[in-house]
Amino acid sequence: MDRREAILRELNLYPLWVRRDQTASTAGDPRPAEALAESVAPIAAELAAYDVPADIDTSSAVPNTMLDGLDWPELKQRVYDCTACRLRAGCTQTVFGVGDENADWLFVGEGPGADEDALGEPFVGQAGKLLDNMLLAIRLKRGNNVYIANIVKCRPPGNRTPADEEIATCFPYLQRQIELIKPRLIVALGRVASNALLGRDVTLASLRGKVHDYHGIPVIVTYHPAYLLRSPAEKAKAWQDLCLAVNKMQETGKSA
Ligand code: URA
Repeated sequence: MDRREAILRELNLYPLWVRRDQTASTAGDPRPAEALAESVAPIAAELAAYDVPADIDTSSAVPNTMLDGLDWPELKQRVYDCTACRLRAGCTQTVFGVGDENADWLFVGEGPGADEDALGEPFVGQAGKLLDNMLLAIRLKRGNNVYIANIVKCRPPGNRTPADEEIATCFPYLQRQIELIKPRLIVALGRVASNALLGRDVTLASLRGKVHDYHGIPVIVTYHPAYLLRSPAEKAKAWQDLCLAVNKMQETGKSA
């Protein structure tokens, strides 16, 4: 089995994508259900805590303004020092973003989870492993022409969904990151990232399958890897989204 095939198997795509008229050696060999359930259990447990209400004092919040013109070190410092919303008081550290600062590809998630909060890097837990495999499936690698960031830079308590005002407060940091990176394409991971980037409040399903726009940069939306861990059958649709992204990137001039 070559590496690409191994990755597609990990994405649970292989049996789904075998043509009916072919008898590929990989057909009919999905991962055992128990193994899948085992790998999904911690994520499911974490997601169950999503609606824990925030109970952090916001009275000392310092506004987050005037990011125009900041360079990378200045922007990193501003994020590091940020107390613009209540999330900072409840997390271990800010999680700025990681990767190639001149990347063509920008992947945007929702916000740090427990692993990211501990390590200070986006997508390093189970969902991150799947994201890395999604990247490899389209011949990309974390850090190599790829930048990964989140909508909010601090872990929401109990991994709840960030509140609208927390997203609004943190979004300027991502805006400045995008201005500095100048990516040729953005992949939004999940409903929160998609709606925040596109200024919408709609379902992910209504956004999938189209090329959207963020200040002239094409945006493709797809499922959040944490959701894909819980709903592996949707990985086939995520693969379609990634193919759309690759096609769009190729259209814009350079191959992926
Ligand atoms: N989920 C996200 O949206 N971002 C991370 O960095 C990790 C998990």
